[in-house]
Amino acid sequence: MKVLVTGVAGFIGFHVAEALLKQGMNVIGVDSLNDYYDPALKAARLKQLEPYPSFSFQKLDVADHQAMLSLTESHPDLEAVVHLAAQAGVRHSMVDPYSYVTSNVMGQVALLEACRHLKNLTHVVYASSSSVYGRNRSTPFRETDRVDQPSSLYAVTKRAAELTSESYAYLYGIPQTGLRFFTVYGPWGRPDMAYYGFAKAISEGRPVTLYDGKNLSRDFTYIDDIVRGVLKVLGRPPEAGTSRVLNLGGDKPEKVVRMIELLERNLDQKAVVECRPRPVADMESTWASLENIKELCGWEPEVSFEDGMKEFCLWFRKFYGI
Ligand SMILES: NC(=O)c1ccc[n+]([C@@H]2O[C@H](COP(=O)([O-])OP(=O)(O)OC[C@H]3O[C@@H](n4cnc5c(N)ncnc54)[C@H](O)[C@@H]3O)[C@@H](O)[C@H]2O)c1
Repeated sequence: MKVLVTGVAGFIGFHVAEALLKQGMNVIGVDSLNDYYDPALKAARLKQLEPYPSFSFQKLDVADHQAMLSLTESHPDLEAVVHLAAQAGVRHSMVDPYSYVTSNVMGQVALLEACRHLKNLTHVVYASSSSVYGRNRSTPFRETDRVDQPSSLYAVTKRAAELTSESYAYLYGIPQTGLRFFTVYGPWGRPDMAYYGFAKAISEGRPVTLYDGKNLSRDFTYIDDIVRGVLKVLGRPPEAGTSRVLNLGGDKPEKVVRMIELLERNLDQKAVVECRPRPVADMESTWASLENIKELCGWEPEVSFEDGMKEFCLWFRKFYGI
């Protein structure tokens, strides 16, 4: 099977592509390699994929609709798409809002327009986010909850992508699944996320900023669980002409202070913690209801927060030679 993976140099895209390649699939990977965070990390991830003969890479902006069209025209035998390219990060959407609209809204439209011409396409799986639940208070968050009180522009663009997909499923019959990921962490992770930034600060003796005292919690999900979920869902497309959204979370909200404890233990260093009020775009807590994905494919998270943070720290120490 030939699969297009967008955002292939990113944290989740890299892991998904590697898992597909290990299963013997052909992977066409695209990424703009932007400098939102250190492009050297993106290059290092790509280097891991290069040895696979069935992997090919193209540097490309998914919002460039002409380039996307040329891509699918030159690969008419594509059977599945995992669309992970996006401008991620909640707080940064207050700094550079336009990049979110371009990559996440225009990018979704350009991808789906390009997909309309693929005759063998069975399924488009794309990344949504727990952030769409915004200011909802009732947990766990369910896919049937109303999601019309976003607390960031990032969330707005992810919800817009979901609605775009719903309309393209209805109009053009493309079967699609949006996965609402909940705080994904692990080796080869994203430097702008708290667990990674805190690890860097702790290892360099700099203070870490803890927002909202001890209240902030996240439904952390280990990368291997996410990859397993993406692959399971990819093999179970919804009926032609329909789309759906599914939560993919850890189902065990953890306090951010617990994350700091685990980093201290696994990095063998004490953290200097500075407390600040929570930024307005950040949600206080997240927690995924997993009933729907369990029913669809029996997926449940398997890696505990303790084991996952240990694996992340092992990778982190090796990667930075600590
Ligand atoms: N990591 C998480 O906790 C998390 C949570 C919820 C949702 N998500 C979503 O999952 C997806 C993958 O996230 P990630 O954590 O791997 O982030 P990431 O930033 O590591 O990966 C995204 C990749 O997309 C690329 N990209 C960005 N804009 C692009 C464009 N216009 N054209 C082509 N490539 C572009 C980037 O260069 C990057 O390599 C994103 O859609 C993100 O919004 C992630």
